[in-house]
Amino acid sequence: MSLAPTIKLNNGQHMPVLGLGTYLSTNDEGYNSTKIALDNGYRHIDTAYFYQNENEIGRAVNEKVTSGELKREEIFVVTKLWNIHHDPIHVEAACRKSLKNLGLDYIDLYLIHTPMGLEYREPEELLPKDKDGNLAFSDVDYLDTWKAMEKLVDLGLVKSIGVSNFNSEQIARILENCRIKPVTNQVECSPSLNQKKLIEFCKERNITITGYSPLTRPHSYENDKSLPKPAILDPKVEEIGRKYNKTPAQVVLRYLVEIGACPYPKSSNESRIKQNIEIFDFKLTENELRVMDSFHTGQRTVPFAACAAHKYFMLNREF
Ligand code: A2P
Repeated sequence: MSLAPTIKLNNGQHMPVLGLGTYLSTNDEGYNSTKIALDNGYRHIDTAYFYQNENEIGRAVNEKVTSGELKREEIFVVTKLWNIHHDPIHVEAACRKSLKNLGLDYIDLYLIHTPMGLEYREPEELLPKDKDGNLAFSDVDYLDTWKAMEKLVDLGLVKSIGVSNFNSEQIARILENCRIKPVTNQVECSPSLNQKKLIEFCKERNITITGYSPLTRPHSYENDKSLPKPAILDPKVEEIGRKYNKTPAQVVLRYLVEIGACPYPKSSNESRIKQNIEIFDFKLTENELRVMDSFHTGQRTVPFAACAAHKYFMLNREF
């Protein structure tokens, strides 16, 4: 069993450089994959209020802790503030709700899920729509949301705070106006969209990049060939893997760690969950890194098309 090495965040906390992705792992699937992951060396789990699986993830984490197999402080749990909760009056309550769902008394890392607010309604709707059926945007400034996130650190509800799906300009704006720096920006990151420029930008500011969809969602590509082609399906990646006795997915994840990202591979399959963390016993050569770089097209699996008209839409610049 291998543990992922950790990286020191800008606030002194330590975060394992690879974690389990759990988007779409709901109900028993979320619980089982988290349990399998913790049994196999994962100490970093990524969830979100929007994923509607905090309960199951928290149940698996708590079982490991109450059974004495792991200490709470050995597990790094990430969750996210959803877009409908951006108004500062909702932030603390949303965080407390996530804590309750998870059954935890603190969150290791709490992220603003995207810079784009949505209208808050009662009863709560995760994706509120206007009368024309479009998403109902709110224009809450993410800086105001950030200030409310900082208070959560003061209250001891969260150890670290960060952002997700922010572009470089939005990160710079937070940095110019914050009291507590974000420790990470979680973005889509895979060979097709390797985020090298954003990684460099954030690294210069001591902010890590955590990456979702690192395998470019191979099942989605099977159903829709207009999506970016996953590098794991390319014979060149298979060939690199053969040299190290590794699978294409392991080569991709190793590549992402080597270029400075912390990937969140999602899997619900025991052998793939195990395989995805076994990437810390080999190293790609310069030439192999160049081969992997060649898959970058900048194409996204998650283009946020329904939010393109939002005031804080983030994908209208290169990075
Ligand atoms: P499964 O859950 O059946 O393992 P991403 O992390 O880019 O979002 O991709 C997640 C998808 O990739 C999941 O559908 C998952 O399917 C699949 N997957 C996860 N690990 C591997 C792997 N090692 N090899 C091939 N496919 C994988």
